[in-house]
This record gives sequence, structure tokens and C-alpha cells, in this order.
Amino acid sequence: MKRRAFIRNGGLAIATAIASPLLSSRSHARSVGNPLRIPATLAGSSLEAKTVAAEVWPGSTTDLMTLGGTWPGPTIRVRRGDQFEVDVVNRLDESTTVHWHGLVVPPDMDGHPMDVIAPNASRRYSFEVLNRAGTYWYHPHPHERTAAQTYQGMAGIFIVEDDDEQNLDLPRGAYDVPLLIQDRIVRGGRTLVYDPDSIARLNGTLGDTVFVNGTPDAYLNVDRGLYRLRLINASNARILRLAFNDGRSFNVIGCDGGLLDRSHVVNETYLAPAERIEIVVDFAALAIGQSVELRSLAFGSATTYAQQGFELAVMSFVGTGGAGHSSISQTLIPHEPFRIDDARKTQSITLDTSPIPLGGHHHKINGVVFDMHRIDARIPLDELQLWEITNQHTMSHPIHIHGTQFQVVDRTTVAQLAPVDMGWKDTVLVAGKETVRVLIRFSPFVGTYLLHCHNLEHEDDGMMINFSVDQRTAVDDAQAIPTKLDLR
Ligand code: C2O
Ligand code: CU
Ligand code: CU
Repeated sequence: MKRRAFIRNGGLAIATAIASPLLSSRSHARSVGNPLRIPATLAGSSLEAKTVAAEVWPGSTTDLMTLGGTWPGPTIRVRRGDQFEVDVVNRLDESTTVHWHGLVVPPDMDGHPMDVIAPNASRRYSFEVLNRAGTYWYHPHPHERTAAQTYQGMAGIFIVEDDDEQNLDLPRGAYDVPLLIQDRIVRGGRTLVYDPDSIARLNGTLGDTVFVNGTPDAYLNVDRGLYRLRLINASNARILRLAFNDGRSFNVIGCDGGLLDRSHVVNETYLAPAERIEIVVDFAALAIGQSVELRSLAFGSATTYAQQGFELAVMSFVGTGGAGHSSISQTLIPHEPFRIDDARKTQSITLDTSPIPLGGHHHKINGVVFDMHRIDARIPLDELQLWEITNQHTMSHPIHIHGTQFQVVDRTTVAQLAPVDMGWKDTVLVAGKETVRVLIRFSPFVGTYLLHCHNLEHEDDGMMINFSVDQRTAVDDAQAIPTKLDLR
């Protein structure tokens, strides 16, 4: 009971009560599965894009496309303020690019499809790490091939650390675990061959099996204490509704762009493709050999795995009985919310989906299909704007914006934002028929960035636009009153 109260209050620097194992009798012992893979940390400054045959399932090999030879690729760990440099060498027989999802980098370092690396060529990515401490990721971004390359194994974790975060009391080391979550279709064969049918091209590829850090049926042995789990939804299209099978609550401490100002207690959270959420979970009551499972709960009316909202197992946590970390800071990283009154312009973005291909494409933004050489909008540097993203149809779309972190203001479908929408965001789920408003500002780089749906099949179908961040002009400065401006 004491422990429960502690969690409800959002975390306090004590946790002495060790609950009786009886309390977790609803969880059950587990004897099967594969130990969770923890990707190696990137050593050196080169990353090869290449195909490999890897032991995804013990005892057999699976053909993969990788960044760095493993699925996921090596985890990149940097400190804010560092100069990050890596040479990506393309040993594939097709072009690729690497995008540093969530990081604010100069446009020519952003992995834009115009900047592809041809087979046997290489490209040096080099930028200063400006982002706050947080959980970011990297993946390919070539024109119409992002879904295929990511699906077959090209993706990795990118962790930024900084002093503000280091000064907090949070679980570290083995108690700080990044979990890159992806669903894949393995029914009918243990392969990662990418071959979407017409339904997958309309809805996105939805798998029957969840892999965590490239591990099927993963489990992690956990000590009796608090764990910081950095959850990354790197699925092509699967929206996760994450919860533990015993209904236990957990603390949300961060989202896409770093830590929240304080933790929020929930017992489930949605996580759309490309979003991240950081949670602190308490495994103190887990006795030796007892397990608790992380699942994606059902939502909507899905009856088969190939539909959005189908219930899936994600991974399990098995108690070791050892002593663990027992406290977290109550105050995390305070941040100043943007004020709606400070926004100088309102932009409307409409998401258009048609069940019948229009001009060969199902998915559009503001009525247009992506053209990588066309600029669809111009945004003045440093100007705070209010963007209203409206979904005209019933399918949900995770909308991602490059080159910045923004703040969600509100949604037409809920009275109160969930923790996954609090704090700094680069991806926001826009549900069917919903309008989501965000406050956004671009700084410090001018140039071309992307806005797109992070359902990768939608992205590859052209549900993406280019916008240009431009130097401010006298005209921008003269516009004191917010004006309505269509992105079109
Ligand atoms: Cu994670 Cu434009 O992508
Ligand atoms: Cu991105
Ligand atoms: Cu979409």
C-alpha cells in the first residue's frame, strides 16, 4: 500500500517497502523466450549500410538490411554540445540516407531524400548536438524506400545526455534500458522480406509479432527496483497501446524531446510510430522467476493482427530477486510552455486519405503528393506559429516534423492531454476526424525540412511535404496580428 501511494504521488526519493510476493501473484512464471538484445554502443565514426544474415531467432539466420551490421544498429550516445560525426558507407545495392529523428541538425545533415548516398558511395554526417537529453533514433529516409529499408532492419537508438539530466536521481546503467519496438509479419516464415499487399499499402504494414531491440519474444531479467525504460515505437505503422498485464501503474518521465517537468502516473499509454516515451516502472514486488508482461492492448474493433488495434505481446520482465534502484527525483526538467498569444501566424495542415487511389496515391497533405524538389510552405526563422493539423478521414496518422521540437496545445477529441503529448514533441498522433494544434518555432537553421506521416507506407506513398525555413524579412516583422495562412 505504501509503495502504491508513493507511485501515485509521482515519485519521491524513498521506496523502502518491499511488497510481499503474494501481491504479484497475478503475474506468472515464464520459462520461454529470448533474452532481450541490448545493441552495442557505436564505436568509431563509421556506419556501414549493408545486408547481413543474422541470427534473429536462435539457430537460424535471417537476411536483414542494417546500419552497422546489426538490428537495431549500434546505439549512439552523445552529450549535448558534442560534435557528432559519422561516415555512412553504403554497401547496399540501392540508395539510402540516414535521418537523425528528433535532432535539430542543419538541413544538409538531415538525411533528406534529395541527399541520397548512392551504392558504394559514402557521406559524412557532422553536426553539433543541440537537443536536450532524451531518446531519439535514426533510420533511412530515401524517396519511396523508407518503409522497405526500415522494415528490413535499418534503425538504431540515439541517446543524448546532458548535465541537467545527470544531476537528477534516475535509474542508470543496467537500470536504464532503451526498447526499440517494431512489429513484423513472421507468420508463414521467419523472414523480414518486405512485400506489402494493397491493404498494407493503404493502412501501413501491420505485423503479427513484436520485436524489441530485434529480439522476438524478448524477456529481461530485472532486479527488485525501479527501471527507466526508453520506449521507441519504430514500427512502420503499428500504434501501440502499452500496458502491463497486471495493470500496474508506472511513471511517465519523458517524451520525444526529453524529460517532462515532473512524472505523471498512468497505467497505459498510446505510442504512435516514431514517438518515444520514457517511463519508470517499479519491479520491487517481483520475486525470483516471477514475470510481468508488457503488452499492446486492443483498441477499436480489430479482430486480426493485420488490423490497427489488435492486441499483441511486447516483452516480459522476469524477477531476479536482487536489490535494485529505489528512488527518482520529484522534479525533472522544467520547461517554459509556449504561449498561444505569442503565435504570429496560424497555418492549417490537412491530412487527406482516400480509400480509392487518387492519381495513383491514397495519402496526401494539403491536397498534394510529395515532390522532393517542390517547396510547399515558407516559415520565417524564429517565428512562433500555431499549426492546426486536421485529419479529414477516419484513419489515424502520426505526423512528424523535422528540424524542431514543438508543443501540443490541444486536441478536439479529448479534454486533457495525456503525458505522451506533454513536453517537447517531434511526432504527434492525429486521430480520425481530429484536429491537433501545436505551437512551433524553427531555430537556428534556415533551409528545407520535411513534414510527413510517419506511417512509413503513407510517407512512401507521398504523404509528405517540404517546407523552407527562411530568414525573417521586414514583411514578417510587420505582421503583428496573427493571420490565417494556408500552407498550400
Ligand atoms: Cu523519423 Cu522524416 O522521419
Ligand atoms: Cu525526423
Ligand atoms: Cu498516415
